Amino acid sequence: MPSIGILGAGYVGLATAAGFAARGFKVVCADIDEKKINVLQMGELPFFEEGMKEVFLASSIPVIFTTDLSLACSCDIVFCCVGTPMSIDGSADLSYVFSAATTCAEVNQRALFVIKSTTPPGTAKRVSGIIDGKLRIASNPEFLREGQAVADALKPSRIIIGADDTSIQSELSELYSDVKVPILCTDTVTAELIKYASNSFLATKISFINEIDNLCHTIGANILDVAKGMGLDDRIGAKFLQPGPGYGGGCFPKDVSALQFLGSSIGVPMKILSATSMVNVQRQTLSFNRLVEFFGVDLAGKTIAIWGLAFKPNTDDFRDSPSISLINSCIKAGASITAYDPMVRGESTKRAFGGQVFKRALSAISAIDGADALVIMTDWPEFEKYSIADVKKYLRTSCVVDLRHVLK
Ligand code: UGA
Repeated sequence: MPSIGILGAGYVGLATAAGFAARGFKVVCADIDEKKINVLQMGELPFFEEGMKEVFLASSIPVIFTTDLSLACSCDIVFCCVGTPMSIDGSADLSYVFSAATTCAEVNQRALFVIKSTTPPGTAKRVSGIIDGKLRIASNPEFLREGQAVADALKPSRIIIGADDTSIQSELSELYSDVKVPILCTDTVTAELIKYASNSFLATKISFINEIDNLCHTIGANILDVAKGMGLDDRIGAKFLQPGPGYGGGCFPKDVSALQFLGSSIGVPMKILSATSMVNVQRQTLSFNRLVEFFGVDLAGKTIAIWGLAFKPNTDDFRDSPSISLINSCIKAGASITAYDPMVRGESTKRAFGGQVFKRALSAISAIDGADALVIMTDWPEFEKYSIADVKKYLRTSCVVDLRHVLK
């Protein structure tokens, strides 16, 4: 069995590590973030992810977590799982990928360097150029969802292997031979585009249903029935047709933007994606606009209760969460905030929420008790037990904004 090196201990790196560890491989996972590695070495996770800690604890060969990148690079197959954040111009910042490849080329030129990070089409070829072809390179994009990362790593919907050499395609197909899901082998540029096209399509589906929801609000149609009726057509499918306050998280906003950037930089403007992003940006202001419709522009003296800070349920991740812009807008309009989220807690959120200080409630009910309005931003299952009538009993007005349609 080849040894597996992993560069980057974020969601993708740790889910990949968990997937290989559960299948009995020797795994070395390295990250330059000392704090994160210390946490992992103590048997904890740097973020919440259902079932992941248990996989690490149960693995027959314990995963080695280290800040020494060369240890991971010395493995037979090295997965590059570093971040590709959004640059100021909207493109993907590839500096961590280039630096990981350079390190690997310095340490171990026999390694197969596999890019799992989401990278724009053409990146694998650029990496090869940067390191003068010193490593064999493949693209093996990751499709895991936060909150279900372990299940997705163990049984993904599909495995995409991109390599410009059939022997590399065979080597990687062999690595996954016990995972009984479809494997598609392509060249690197195609594999890279499959990932971007998939995320962009899902984001477009969400913006589409959100735009239909805007229409429903005006003409008095029922969005949930519209989505249900559409979803019954199996060519459309019911998934990703839930209206909400706009998509967020560490993936969709940056990936849609990077594909738009790529298209316009090579003279192929991505017009649908421009609309997808535009609808999403507007959608993220909708909850605040509904408050203004009710109270007027001056929210001074009002207390707004917010249920949900995470960008979706089952995670403590609030990167690009729609609640960030809501909180900033409310505070700017003079309101006080009382927020409750079952998982996003503590001081760490302060910077993300524009340095804004706001009250944290310890329960959903204590957040709304005496507040002027409630806005639901995350569809946590625990909110589903309440009806609109239940929550109104605790509020000083009848203002409830529930773009997720969580309340009964
Ligand atoms: C997304 C993709 O679903 C994964 O396949 C992909 O691997 C991952 O990005 C990535 O590139 O790493 P994730 O960001 O974990 O996964 O979250 P999703 O479950 O896709 O949700 C994204 C956003 O869309 C959330 O804000 C969610 O609330 C919103 N959403 C989702 C809706 O508003 N409506 C829906 O019907 C579905």
